[in-house]
Amino acid sequence: MRDILPPESGRWRRFTSAFADVVEAAGYEQLVPPLLEDVGVFTRIGEATDVVTKEMYDFVDSGNRHVALRPELTASVCRSFAQHRPTLPWKVFYSGSMFRYERPQRGRYRQFDQVGLEALGVDDPMLDVEVIALGWEFYRRLGLQQVRLIVNSLGEPTDRARYVEALRTYFEAAGDALSEQSRATLEKNPLRVLDSKREGDQALVAAAPQIADYYSVEAAEHFAQVTAGLDALGIAYVIDPKLVRGLDYYRRTIFEFQGGTLDSAQNALGGGGRYDGLVEALGGPSTPGIGFALGVDRTLLACDDEGCFAAEPVVLDAFVVDVVGGLEAAKITAELRAGGLTADRAFDQRSMKAQMKLANRSGAQSAIIVGDSELDSDTVTVKPLGPGEQFVVARTELVDVLTERRNPSPNRKLETQ
Ligand code: HAM
Repeated sequence: MRDILPPESGRWRRFTSAFADVVEAAGYEQLVPPLLEDVGVFTRIGEATDVVTKEMYDFVDSGNRHVALRPELTASVCRSFAQHRPTLPWKVFYSGSMFRYERPQRGRYRQFDQVGLEALGVDDPMLDVEVIALGWEFYRRLGLQQVRLIVNSLGEPTDRARYVEALRTYFEAAGDALSEQSRATLEKNPLRVLDSKREGDQALVAAAPQIADYYSVEAAEHFAQVTAGLDALGIAYVIDPKLVRGLDYYRRTIFEFQGGTLDSAQNALGGGGRYDGLVEALGGPSTPGIGFALGVDRTLLACDDEGCFAAEPVVLDAFVVDVVGGLEAAKITAELRAGGLTADRAFDQRSMKAQMKLANRSGAQSAIIVGDSELDSDTVTVKPLGPGEQFVVARTELVDVLTERRNPSPNRKLETQ
């Protein structure tokens, strides 16, 4: 867990608001779920996933309730849906911190942030296309060019179950040829063996049965429509029949956005899929659902690597230097801020020299100086903190003058040329 300091923290806020812009334009509304849920909400994600069995921050609270800090939000959204029963389709987005007790490394933390969305109540493959396209569009807005989209389908629940059994039989027959860790995974969830990155497992994984051979007609048709929709929107993707994703609730379409610059263990910038059946498992009516979550920490690392969506320090329009007691600075900063400008000041009645030092360090565009002569004549001295000569203006004109300095009007530019 770590602190996000300025100016990085400002970049995080812009990231979240850029995401909100993209998905609100498609009719998604924000849901703010609690950080803690009854642990049962998350165990529905699947007893075979590490997220549930090894990584949860769960404890018994003073009211003797077994609760957990959220490791993800899809289960919370489905719980919220089952509880409030909003009208369908329900299209919501969220952002905030998740908690997983993982082994920390670059791009993997115990508290990390996600932005994500979920759409409940629609079975149409065109919704899968919309959801994937929104993730894709968001990466484009950030300026990321090396993100790869990987898609797969896990088939209908019965297809998936038949496939899992076929995998179990296949990997069991391999005996000791499979690594010890993968044999342990096989006991819990044969699908996850396909995720094995171990060298010795690679040949076995490559020759394993393929999910596509187990699709029902409906599942094959659904997936074909999803890929046709992506083609129609010009979204490039790769079908990876070995993509299984780390959570157990997925059915049919699944997808992952992978970064081009991060280590392969941490290159998933985001992912999602369909989870028809999860709402039911949480006590609601049978309701299809699909969504994704994007890791904020990892996506910003990818932005660093690709040199886009940089952190921008706040630029102040003015730093007020008041050598007549401090009250004028209070009035001027208030006037400037009310006028839509950004302004800071010095405190503690420091010397002119000390205040000018602070003004320079603040990175402000201009220092606004009030001394005795300015106070007497109801003026201030504007001293550009970059190139340019200082000048005196009436207090009543200060907001206009600084606004003009921030956004020079084209006519004024011509006049000075
Ligand atoms: P997930 O794949 O577990 O899916 O997480 C989504 C993204 O969160 C990952 O691709 C990664 O960028 C980020 N992430 C996960 N764990 C960490 C970590 N320890 N440190 C940093 N970043 C991390 C879900 O959470 C599903 N709820 C997505 C979903 C929504 N599926 C359907 N709807």
